[in-house]
Amino acid sequence: MRTNIRSAGLEDLNFLVWLEEQSFPPHRQCSRNSLRTSIISPKQCTFIIEQVLPDDSTVLLGAAVVISYKHSQRIYSIAVHPDFRGTGAGTELVQHILNAASLAEYQKVSIEADANNHKLICWYQKQNFEFIKLLEDYYAPGEPAYRMVHSLHLTDTSAPRAGKSSATLPPVKTH
Ligand SMILES: CC(C)(COP(=O)(O)OP(=O)(O)OC[C@H]1O[C@@H](n2cnc3c(N)ncnc32)[C@H](O)[C@@H]1OP(=O)(O)O)[C@@H](O)C(=O)NCCC(=O)NCCS
Repeated sequence: MRTNIRSAGLEDLNFLVWLEEQSFPPHRQCSRNSLRTSIISPKQCTFIIEQVLPDDSTVLLGAAVVISYKHSQRIYSIAVHPDFRGTGAGTELVQHILNAASLAEYQKVSIEADANNHKLICWYQKQNFEFIKLLEDYYAPGEPAYRMVHSLHLTDTSAPRAGKSSATLPPVKTH
């Protein structure tokens, strides 16, 4: 599949809102206002990944919102269209974010990921994100997240490797 990654514009806002609705429960979704800010703020980057068809028309596949701090960046939201999950678009987006952050000389990229979603945590570990902290009640009471960090000065972002064993992660309380 031929793909392209570009910065989002305000014309992508409806897709971004729809993608949040398809990908997260209501209390975890970014609002339309916050997505609009993510497009226009100089402190945030919103990337769109799209499939490029033979006639050069495009199909929107997914998106990621990245917030910039002084020395680091944080993936605030990332999601792929449900019909295109498992096709490599999410990995491509993450690698694009890591490469851009490395070129801009940020030291690390962080993410908060659902601690109860084992597949998701393993997916980040495969991309060299390492566990930093358990955040109890992060999304809501009883809904913890792991803060995970990819250190840019230590690793080659172009080469995903097996992450730390999930046995090194702290257990999550069950309710
Ligand atoms: C997480 C997500 C962005 C990954 O994008 P993707 O394009 O499907 O990822 P890739 O095709 O590059 O990699 C696929 C792998 O991701 C892993 N994975 C990660 N999260 C997953 C999830 N929520 N459901 C299923 N598989 C998931 C699986 O190991 C899968 O491998 P498999 O197909 O062999 O099972 C996408 O699954 C998604 O939009 N999920 C819902 C929103 C979400 O949870 N976002 C993360 C917020 S921290």
